[in-house]
Amino acid sequence: MTDQTPKPVAVVTGAAGDIGMAIAAQLSATHIIAAVDIDMIALEGAVESLENHGADIAAIQCDLTKADDLARLAKEAARLGQVNTIINNAGAAAALTLHQMTAETLSRDLALNLEAALNCFKAFEQPLISSGAGNVVNIASVNGLSVFGHPAYSAAKAGLIHATRSIAVEYGKYGIRSNAIAPGTVKTQAWKIRQAANPDVFDEALSWYPFKSLPEPNDIASAVSFLISPAARCITGVCLPVDSGLTAGSPALARTFTQSPDFDGF
Ligand SMILES: NC(=O)c1ccc[n+]([C@@H]2O[C@H](COP(=O)([O-])OP(=O)(O)OC[C@H]3O[C@@H](n4cnc5c(N)ncnc54)[C@H](O)[C@@H]3O)[C@@H](O)[C@H]2O)c1
Repeated sequence: MTDQTPKPVAVVTGAAGDIGMAIAAQLSATHIIAAVDIDMIALEGAVESLENHGADIAAIQCDLTKADDLARLAKEAARLGQVNTIINNAGAAAALTLHQMTAETLSRDLALNLEAALNCFKAFEQPLISSGAGNVVNIASVNGLSVFGHPAYSAAKAGLIHATRSIAVEYGKYGIRSNAIAPGTVKTQAWKIRQAANPDVFDEALSWYPFKSLPEPNDIASAVSFLISPAARCITGVCLPVDSGLTAGSPALARTFTQSPDFDGF
C-alpha cells in the first residue's frame, strides 16, 4: 500500500469492550476503523482514546440485533471508504445454566452471539465481495468447543464456528476469507459480576490452563491481525483457539491417566 492509497475500512463490533478496543487499536495500523457498539457513551470514550493514539476511527452506535440499525450501520460505514474487513466481536452471555435458561434468555443469547454476526456479514456482503479480498473474523469462544457453562451462549458460539466455515466455503470464490477465534478466559468488563462474587475467579480459572498465563485482549487482537494479514493468505474456515492450551487437554487428567509425576506442578 502506498501513502496515496486510501486505507480500507474494518468494521469492529463490540468496540467499546476490552477485546474489541484492542482489536480496533491493532487494526488501525492498516485500516480506517468503523467502531460499533450499542453503548455510545463507552464507545465514545474508547474512540477518543484510540484517536489520541493516531487511529482513523469513527464511532457508530448500533444494536446489532436490530435489522434497521444494521442497515444504517452499513450505510454509515460505507461513507468511510471501502469496507473489506468485518470483525464480529460483540457478544455476551445471559443464562449461566440450562436450569436457569428461559425461552427469553435463549433468544437473547442466540440473537446476539449468532444471528447478529451472520446478519452483520450479510449487511456487508456486497462491499466484501467488491473489495476482492474481504476478511471476516468471528470472535467465538472455547465455550463453542467444549462445555464450560452458559449453554445457550455456547450453542450460539458453536453455531458461529459453523457459520464461519459456511462463509469460507460459499464466498471463497470472491476472495473472501472467513475465520473464527476461540478465546479462553480474558479479563474484561464481561467478568465484573463474577469477579465481584469471587475475587479469586481468575486464579481459579488459571489452575485449569496448561500454559500458565491467561490470554489478554491484545493476544486476541494479535490473532485477528494475523488472520486478516497476507501471511494467512490460505487460511480460511478455521477456528483458532487463543486459550493457553485449555482445549488441548488437562494436565490433571493426564496425571490420573498416566500416574506420571511428569504432569505434576499444576
Ligand atoms: N472475556 C472473555 O473471557 C471471553 C472469552 C471467550 C470469548 N469472548 C468473546 O469475546 C468477545 C468480546 O468480549 P469481551 O470480554 O470484550 O466483552 P465486553 O462485555 O467487554 O464487550 C462486549 C461489547 O459488546 C457490546 N454489545 C453487547 N450487545 C450489543 C449489541 N446488541 N449491539 C452492539 N454491541 C453490543 C457491549 O456494549 C460491549 O461493549 C465476545 O464475543 C465474547 O463472547 C470473551
